[in-house]
Amino acid sequence: MGENLSIVTISLLLFLASTNAVQVFDIKSYGGQPNADITQALTKAWTAACAVAGSKVMISTGTYKLGLVTLLGPCKGAIEFNLQGTLEAPSDVASFKGKDFWVTFQHIDSLTVSGGGVFDGKGLTAWQKNNCDQESDCKMLPTSIRFDFVTNSIVSDIQSKDSKSFHINVYGCKSLKIQDVTITAPGNSPNTDGIHIGHSSSITITNAKVGTGDDCISIGDGTQDVTINQVTCGPGHGISIGSLGKYQNEQPVSGIRVIGGTLSSTTNGVRIKTWPASTPGTASDIHFENIVMNNVANPILIDQGYCPNGQCSSKSPSKVKISNVSFKNIRGTSSTKEAMKLICSSGVPCQQVVVADIDLAYKGAGGSASSTCVNVKPAVSGKQNPPACTTKQ
Ligand SMILES: *[C@@H]1O[C@H](CO)[C@@H](O)[C@H](O)[C@H]1NC(C)=O
Repeated sequence: MGENLSIVTISLLLFLASTNAVQVFDIKSYGGQPNADITQALTKAWTAACAVAGSKVMISTGTYKLGLVTLLGPCKGAIEFNLQGTLEAPSDVASFKGKDFWVTFQHIDSLTVSGGGVFDGKGLTAWQKNNCDQESDCKMLPTSIRFDFVTNSIVSDIQSKDSKSFHINVYGCKSLKIQDVTITAPGNSPNTDGIHIGHSSSITITNAKVGTGDDCISIGDGTQDVTINQVTCGPGHGISIGSLGKYQNEQPVSGIRVIGGTLSSTTNGVRIKTWPASTPGTASDIHFENIVMNNVANPILIDQGYCPNGQCSSKSPSKVKISNVSFKNIRGTSSTKEAMKLICSSGVPCQQVVVADIDLAYKGAGGSASSTCVNVKPAVSGKQNPPACTTKQ
């Protein structure tokens, strides 16, 4: 009896402790109203929430206008950003005053972003002014959501649509889980990458649904230990490591696993891309496994001569060394005849490349699917459709 009572008492105390733990900071209490600009209200609510240990910033259902904001830590304790409504960015690029982001979460430990809400980047007019296909050093338009130096955190169940350029950018982060996010922009919207990761480690992306006008997921230099599980991609340019080798002092990329997932009608499937005439770098321990391709152009691609819009000054080979890469159990349909292209650098040929259980059908003109290998001798096993390395270049 006494024992039971103490269990009840302890449970009750624990319950009270857990409900008291999180203090809610609703933007309404700071003057935030639907259909109005909540930049001030959100900034105040965030500042107040960040100053207490265990807090939640609430934006309930409704549509709100939001100017550019940096939600800055470090905070006193764990903090949640709970977005149930829709946030709308300013449409005009001028109001970003040259800044390259809309919403930035910066220097925060134990952040949760959740709530099912929408970040609407209002990209339509900005896309029309994008000239990056003509000018290689064009000004980057604002990324919708930046995570800079965020650690031990979760981004779960949010949507990002019509970003002016990248939707989500992960930089300098460690132990970040991104799950159940939905990212959409038209297939012809320029540079609207879904999730870009750079200079980060221990990142997992699970169940992302991404359809944009550029890479669904891209991984830049200085990134280690990334797992991408069950991503749905399309339209878009596929899942990409790189591009690498464009800038000075790029850091290694290693430990990347892309497991499961489906790509549909994308311009590439899974690829590694490096610039010719590049600065030295490495990309290693990269594995693509159990992936379905539906009507994808270039389903399997290593491209060490990546040079969009003829932006390269020299044709000398890439200096980015690619090693320990596997493509396993990749099946479905290719919309081009060359279903697998492994074009490695003559300067630093690819090493330890494994190709196993590939079944990619091509049903168009010109015969069945083929594959090309340059400066690489992959270890081949299991089913091979197309037969590996049939076309000589
Ligand atoms: C190659 O990748 C495998 C699988 O991730 C890893 O266990 C192994 O250590 C890597 N080997 C080298 C030489 O990097």
